[in-house]
Amino acid sequence: MKDIKKVSQNVHFIGAFDPQIRTFDIIMKTANGSSYNSYLVRGSEGVCIMDTVKKEFSYDFFRRLEALCSYDEILYIVLHHLEPDHSGALKELMLRAPGAKLIISGRAVMMLKGIIKEDIPFEVANTGKIISLGNKTIEFLSTPFLHWPDTMSSYLHEEKILFSGDVFGSHYYDERLFDDEVGDFSYAFKYYYDHIMRPFKQYVMQALKLYEKFDIKTIAPLHGPILRTNPEYYIEKYGEWSSEAKFRKHTFGNKMLCVFYMSSYENTHKMAQKITAGADSVEGIVASMYDLASLDENNMVDLLEESDAVIIGSPTINGDAVKPAWDLLTCMAYLENRGKVGATFGSYGWTGEAPQMLHERMRWLKFRLPIKPMKIKLIPTQAELEECFSFGVEVAEITMGKMVEIEL
Ligand code: FEO
Repeated sequence: MKDIKKVSQNVHFIGAFDPQIRTFDIIMKTANGSSYNSYLVRGSEGVCIMDTVKKEFSYDFFRRLEALCSYDEILYIVLHHLEPDHSGALKELMLRAPGAKLIISGRAVMMLKGIIKEDIPFEVANTGKIISLGNKTIEFLSTPFLHWPDTMSSYLHEEKILFSGDVFGSHYYDERLFDDEVGDFSYAFKYYYDHIMRPFKQYVMQALKLYEKFDIKTIAPLHGPILRTNPEYYIEKYGEWSSEAKFRKHTFGNKMLCVFYMSSYENTHKMAQKITAGADSVEGIVASMYDLASLDENNMVDLLEESDAVIIGSPTINGDAVKPAWDLLTCMAYLENRGKVGATFGSYGWTGEAPQMLHERMRWLKFRLPIKPMKIKLIPTQAELEECFSFGVEVAEITMGKMVEIEL
């Protein structure tokens, strides 16, 4: 069959292409569509199927699989990750290949029933587990959180192929399939990293460490082009993006505190100025102030990532914080938040719920929130502006390590 591509001597692509998809997992734009990659590995004693596809694309998957093997040859079905875009054809495959053994990671055990909705037999693979297909050997590696807690990778020793799961993927449909034959997918590779892997940088670094012991000639990810030209290049990119020194720290060695605000009548703006000045007066802190009215999302993500402390100011309009303040906090979905300090403030006319509402949201996002939200009715007085200055000082000192009781 012409559209079944050989990845190496005994490995074929049996996945499916989805050129029409334009949004993936709600949060990702997929201008170039995507693919659900799965692979068939043949050994002297039988076959291993690496992942399945999204359910709606099962026909293509089974069509390719049946052209290469019969169901009774399948010894193993490996699911590197249980998300439905890869487990959609699993149930049907197990019905058709009842003699096959399902292999999943330890962390996938709890998820399996939630996704398949019935009890099916399986075997767990942790780092170091090896299975044999006769003359082919597959070794497993636990690479959790990339992109779900259950994710694992595997390595086919004889053909030097890393089946990396979502790691090194791209949402980029191109049936030419190999990185040296498809169009320019560099934007899709980076975009995928930013939206899927960036919140889990520490896990990326752990996975890269595990991959080091293998001589990798080809990376076969679950989405997008198969990387065979210079796999080291992609591995280096992940390493570089996951360990980038923070700009401010790298340059000045300080802690960075960002004050984000929006203001209708300059009142919240005046508070922001004083809070920033107070924070900046603390030794070791560089404080900066940003008007959310004209900050785009990419800048929000970068600034949030660099910040050691984040202070958000919003007026209260119709009983709510303003939309850009909520949008800012939505950007935290793309980031790892390990104990950033947070605080909120705002001027108000009638009820003034916004700072408390933002405070609650930040709590769910796991900020450390040692200070009560600050709210001031309408135009701040000189005395109130001095309180704002002290508020900034307090947040900055806590960021620098001053011990306080955390507010509940
Ligand atoms: Fe491609 Fe996280 O599934």
